[in-house]
Amino acid sequence: MTTTSDSRHDRLTIGLSLAGTWLKGHSWRRPDSRVEDLYGTDLYVDLARRAEAAALDFVFKPDSLFVDPDGLAESPGFSSLDPTVMLAAIARETSRIGLVTTVSTTFNPPYVVARQLMSLHRISNGRAGWNIVTSLDGQHNFGVGEMPTAEERYARAREFTEVVRGLWRGYPAGSLLADREAGRYADTGRVEVLDHDGERFSVRGPLTVPGDPSGEVPLFQAGASPVGRAFAASVADATFAATPDLDAGVELRSDLRRRAAELGRDPDALRVLPGLSLFLGRTREEALALHREAHAHLDDARRYAAVEAVLGLDVSGLAPDARVTPELLPPADTPVRSRTHADLLRRLVERERPTVADLLHRPEVVGSAHWVVVGTPDDAVREIGERFAAGAADGFIALPGGSLGSLDLFLDEVVPALVDKGLFRDSYRGTTLREHLIPGA
Ligand SMILES: Cc1cc2nc3c(=O)[nH]c(=O)nc-3n(C[C@H](O)[C@H](O)[C@H](O)COP(=O)(O)O)c2cc1C
Repeated sequence: MTTTSDSRHDRLTIGLSLAGTWLKGHSWRRPDSRVEDLYGTDLYVDLARRAEAAALDFVFKPDSLFVDPDGLAESPGFSSLDPTVMLAAIARETSRIGLVTTVSTTFNPPYVVARQLMSLHRISNGRAGWNIVTSLDGQHNFGVGEMPTAEERYARAREFTEVVRGLWRGYPAGSLLADREAGRYADTGRVEVLDHDGERFSVRGPLTVPGDPSGEVPLFQAGASPVGRAFAASVADATFAATPDLDAGVELRSDLRRRAAELGRDPDALRVLPGLSLFLGRTREEALALHREAHAHLDDARRYAAVEAVLGLDVSGLAPDARVTPELLPPADTPVRSRTHADLLRRLVERERPTVADLLHRPEVVGSAHWVVVGTPDDAVREIGERFAAGAADGFIALPGGSLGSLDLFLDEVVPALVDKGLFRDSYRGTTLREHLIPGA
């Protein structure tokens, strides 16, 4: 298998999501779902240790700041522990694997976030990562009536990130002396007061937590509208991407690399890591049954509602075999929850003119627009190799689907097969997340 000639990455970057994706729909009702363990740490420590034994780069926890109260009757939905607190517990039980938390820049104060992230980085000896999100919802939990526009959210994300990094840099690890004899705790010549006075934030500093000797917390980002891409290209070490097909991956990755290069960055410094939903079975039939079961709760009414929510288009009046054509699409600037997800579906309609029935089964409609493999471990290995070779991804974030059995097959069979093919390392070369992310490490 050859890898992309335009990149120094000769092996995949692999993360494991700790979100309960295998519980979706009614899958939590399976006897082996471990749904009772959702709000403790045993389950996550167990998964993180297994991911560490497989030398994965990191575990990753997406997050939401709202839960649908009616939806709780049927499934846990977005119910979850706070990801940074959860990862702090995992930090004590692991020693090498990266710990990537998700924290929104839309609703939190940057001083608190800078402090929590640097605390996680310190507690884990340099293994924290920050997935920067601007959020899709949750405004009512923060006294905000309307969700700010995407432009406003990203402008805030930029300034927020600048403040957080400024705070980290203002109290560097190297300033600590702890010189008992001389009675000097820190070299104050190296401690800087940030004195940030910007459009949205006014923060003096310094932070209460000094930086970590391993360097700054690597930055991840999610959101792929033009303004989201511009932001990722300017700061991110990795982006969590929704790329339902190979072409979407190639388009996103080449655009992000071009944007990073235009900003004077090394394009290899920005990894594109699509979510990869894995419904794995010993046989394809078994995997298909798992996939079917995980989506059985989605009747047509819910699928129509999902199309309308993502795209702003009601297709419920059309016959199942009618084609959805670009002329039916609402204007491109119609307000939507996520531009990324709307654009993915718009592009599909423009490219394929799918029938209504096809549309209702697409990952953009039934899932979160992630790449989906339904099949055997061999199928997953083949598809991963294809996307990597085509330049559609620098790696991926595994999202176990249907049952924890998918995760077992992923860790026990898919990852070792990727190692055998020379697409993934068999052991860690370093101890920090930043070291794991160095090309070739
Ligand atoms: C693949 C992907 C994953 C995301 N994960 C989260 C998340 O875990 N938490 C969150 O609050 N927002 C999440 N978001 C929302 C984004 O941070 C962003 O607010 C949204 O996509 C709007 O930005 P856009 O216009 O660039 O798409 C995610 C978006 C994408 C595309």
